[in-house]
Amino acid sequence: MKQPAIQVYRDRHLLAEAAANHFVDQAHKNISRHGRFNVALSGGSTPSEMHQLLATKYADSVDWNRVDFFWGDERYVPQDHPESNYFMAKNTLLDHIDIEPSQLHGIAVDLAPDEAAKAYTRTLRDSLGDAGPSLDLVFLGMGDDGHTASLFPGTRALKDTQNWVVANLVEKLDTWRITLTAPYINQARQVTFLVAGENKAIALRKVLEGPCQPERYPSQLIKPMNGQLLWLIDLAAAGQLQILEGLILE
Ligand code: 6PG
Repeated sequence: MKQPAIQVYRDRHLLAEAAANHFVDQAHKNISRHGRFNVALSGGSTPSEMHQLLATKYADSVDWNRVDFFWGDERYVPQDHPESNYFMAKNTLLDHIDIEPSQLHGIAVDLAPDEAAKAYTRTLRDSLGDAGPSLDLVFLGMGDDGHTASLFPGTRALKDTQNWVVANLVEKLDTWRITLTAPYINQARQVTFLVAGENKAIALRKVLEGPCQPERYPSQLIKPMNGQLLWLIDLAAAGQLQILEGLILE
């Protein structure tokens, strides 16, 4: 695997701007290459500002009817629940751009966890068709424990090398999650982490500069086989990195 590219931005607003530009570039590149842009959004709060920029400042920069939206993971709550990643994306981006419902490929959280995972695997196979099986771009966040998507430390999903999507019981949150597996994420053409905030700094140093211990820091599982890996981070999250001085600071 190629070394990951790491870009550091002075604050989360510049980070969001860079992430929105990255989305636009990736959309242009993939639409030119195969006529579509198959992108998996991440959950949590960090992507919100990027989404809002895409829905406003960059709304005319993307051929939205050629974009298919997927999710890297989902909380096991209804799609209109405040904790839902689908709900967050709709509020911050999807309800504000001109797309059809058929372009949204959410995770069927109304099914039992394992059934939801199987159904999403079928969704990916059916939707990506001959462009498959890999997604063009997978956005990922990282928790302050080093988790990504819903691949949490010490959970069963970390060991799954067979499936594209699994139901993952996260005991520390006492909840089920539905998540893409690391081997499936690693098939993507581009994987981009978006990480902001001082509370991520220690975990980020462990993930990027510490020993390889993916059971404890699952973000270390993300090593695209043939694709590119990019870390877009703000200065606050990068604060503990030993290699900070050599990085791009925009
Ligand atoms: C989720 C996410 C998760 C998230 C990180 C960072 O469903 O919560 O997919 O992996 O990206 O926990 O979350 P924040 O952006 O809120 O810090």
